[in-house]
Amino acid sequence: MIQVAPSLLSADFARLGEAVAMVNTSEASLIHIDVMDGMFVPNITVGFPVIKSISTIAEKPLDVHMMVSEPGRFVDRVRDAGASIMNVHWEACTHLDRVVHTIREAGMKPAVTLNPATPVMFLRDIIRELDMVLLMSVNPGFGGQKFIPNTINKVRELRRLIAESGSEAVIEIDGGVNLETAPSLIEAGADILVAGSYVFNAADSHKAISDLISLS
Ligand code: DX5
Ligand code: ZN
Repeated sequence: MIQVAPSLLSADFARLGEAVAMVNTSEASLIHIDVMDGMFVPNITVGFPVIKSISTIAEKPLDVHMMVSEPGRFVDRVRDAGASIMNVHWEACTHLDRVVHTIREAGMKPAVTLNPATPVMFLRDIIRELDMVLLMSVNPGFGGQKFIPNTINKVRELRRLIAESGSEAVIEIDGGVNLETAPSLIEAGADILVAGSYVFNAADSHKAISDLISLS
């Protein structure tokens, strides 16, 4: 069964509490929070105080997607803000192995994210240490972008790498997920779909989440 992680990036930030309450009462598995620093990506979003506030009302684990340079600097602060999963970009970490182990030692699940142009094979020597791999299906930085179809090939390749290595990592996809793009992702072996604009621009967000889950 496919799992859904609504991305709060497309929620109305003036009514963030209502967005979290919607996710709490939905069939979603996680709450996806996008942190951007204006350096690694050309946008700036929310930081630790906002994550902390969300964590006080969230009833689903927080999946924190760090689109920041050298995210290893912030492991303790992400943990203290209430994250369960800390997602760091392969492209943003000089010493990825150290960052992954620091995240686990801090009590969170380590996840590594790949940009669309970063090959899956770059994870070969770290895959067994990961709880999750996030494949970006758009270039990170903004919600509402168009899905990059090559992601489907990457999901298949990652599924093979996970099987061959004996890793227990789950596969999460982020960007341009909707009812049109989700079926081939599910067929290729995705476990979790992040969905921002598709969920929060829908007339009925609960139904949008349930409809995605019903595809599997
Ligand atoms: C983009 C973020 C995504 C974003 C996805 O850089 O990482 O989580 O919210 O938005 P949609 O689902 O609208 O593509
Ligand atoms: Zn994200």
